[in-house]
Amino acid sequence: MKKAWYKELSVYQIWPRSFCDGNGDGIGDLKGVLGKLDYIKSLGVDAIWFSPLYASPQKDFGYDISDYRAINPDYGTMEDFKAVLDGAHERGMKVIMDLVINHTSDQHEWFKKSAAGDPKYKDYYIWRPGKGKDGKRPPNNWMATFPGPGWQFNEERGEYYLHLFAVEQPDLNHDNPAVREEVKDIMRFWLGMGVDGFREDVITYISKREGLPNGFPIPIMRGQEHYSPGPNIHKYLLEYRKVAEEFGAVQIGEAPMMTPKNALKYITEGKDQQLDMMFQFQHMSADCIVVSYLPTGFKLRKLKRVFRRWQNKLYGIAWNTNYMENHDQPRVISRFGSEEMRTESGKAIATIYTFLSGTHFVYQGQEIGMLNYPFKSWDDIIDVASYCGKSMMEKTHLFSKKTIFRNCAYASRDNARTPVQWSAEEGAGFTTGTPWFHINPNYTEINAAAEEKDPNSLLNYYRKIIALRKEYKEAAVYGRYKEYLKGSGKLYVYEKIGEDGSRLFVVANMSGKKASAAKVRRIIPEGARRVAGTYDGSLADFMRPYEAHVFVVAPEK
Ligand code: NOJ
Ligand code: CA
Repeated sequence: MKKAWYKELSVYQIWPRSFCDGNGDGIGDLKGVLGKLDYIKSLGVDAIWFSPLYASPQKDFGYDISDYRAINPDYGTMEDFKAVLDGAHERGMKVIMDLVINHTSDQHEWFKKSAAGDPKYKDYYIWRPGKGKDGKRPPNNWMATFPGPGWQFNEERGEYYLHLFAVEQPDLNHDNPAVREEVKDIMRFWLGMGVDGFREDVITYISKREGLPNGFPIPIMRGQEHYSPGPNIHKYLLEYRKVAEEFGAVQIGEAPMMTPKNALKYITEGKDQQLDMMFQFQHMSADCIVVSYLPTGFKLRKLKRVFRRWQNKLYGIAWNTNYMENHDQPRVISRFGSEEMRTESGKAIATIYTFLSGTHFVYQGQEIGMLNYPFKSWDDIIDVASYCGKSMMEKTHLFSKKTIFRNCAYASRDNARTPVQWSAEEGAGFTTGTPWFHINPNYTEINAAAEEKDPNSLLNYYRKIIALRKEYKEAAVYGRYKEYLKGSGKLYVYEKIGEDGSRLFVVANMSGKKASAAKVRRIIPEGARRVAGTYDGSLADFMRPYEAHVFVVAPEK
């Protein structure tokens, strides 16, 4: 297994709007981040990934960029960003920016000029005349990921433009070489400033099939077989790769609907490699049918199957990411664990994914065990994607109003976007002003200050296992994966075997019921040392709910 700096990282993701408010206007900002750099460093992480900080009308909270070279004024100035960048670097942490280039905001200068027919910009986006006698029908039947058709008519230009996300997020035309040069310039702008790499938003969507043929008539994501991926994806990514290589930057591509087999077309190490790793989504369906608003309850076997495939298929030839939360996913304890056993299930979840091979990610608030928000009505929900779920479910006529609301509340991206709970003070230590979004009322109990004081807290457990992942990196980061008791619906047991002969064992009861430990005890070799776990004490005859352990065996001499 090839060694590389980016493989060993634990990365902390910041969704700036809800991280920490430094100036009391109720919105998270860079000043707030600066004040928390020591806290982030104290987790033992090696990098920060910022969800978009750029100028944006915030229709999709920064994933709609109106200026790639400017900081959103709500978050501060370029000077503030540079202070954060330097502050992170001084503390030995890398900085990864979000690169959102499948689409821009409709307020970007390029789009305005494109709509006006400016010759330089007219082909920057994907424009087509309408169909039908009066030209009132969209150019094809593609749908957007967010509600509705993938096309919007623009009066000024008299044509439709393609938007695979919100109406305000027109897709860029990467078939136009001028657009690709713009992307490379943007990459150079940030890498030249000292940024260490990019997380690349829906990067597998940037090439669309020539002629934009109709999609297979399915009710969601119609047309995706023509852009996920499109014919020129590898060619374009190789061009962007060259720029990243000039700077030795890391590239992490977001890749919806990705399988290990297809991922290898992007991430196999060697001369055709286009990305260092990908964010795949398969394990996020362990509690639902494909989309999170069709929940089934957590199924451990499903989670294990996904982890097993990715661990085995990539071993020795490609690299992966490991995450349990991000700004698009509800809180994982509320999904795969138990809110009643928050600390215990939070520790078990942390244990099972931290020692898998792959770069390790922790999302803001995950380390203190933040939970889903108790939404009462649709008035509480602002996420566009939740409304997409709602309209999809309504169309089937299969669900009651109550179920639709319950499912969408459970699945809402808003769950991950409530302000970080720093303390029990008013405003949760997030702001001294009026918070821009609901703070979870449980902040009086669940907050970083309380976790900081308690040696057995989830926060301190994250610190511990992040350090262990590094200490035993030959096995934890680079080791070969070997799984036991695959058929168990309660127990997750695996071993990581380092090339130096070191061995690391993860055992976890991922259920809220006790489980016999007899089979597990036969797997753990005599002399293995227990280095972490949910509760004090080693394996007994029975494993308690969410009991997890990490054991290590020193390398053979
Ligand atoms: C994926 C991002 O993570 C998500 O938040 C965003 O809405 C879409 N891409 C569109 O940019
Ligand atoms: Ca602020």
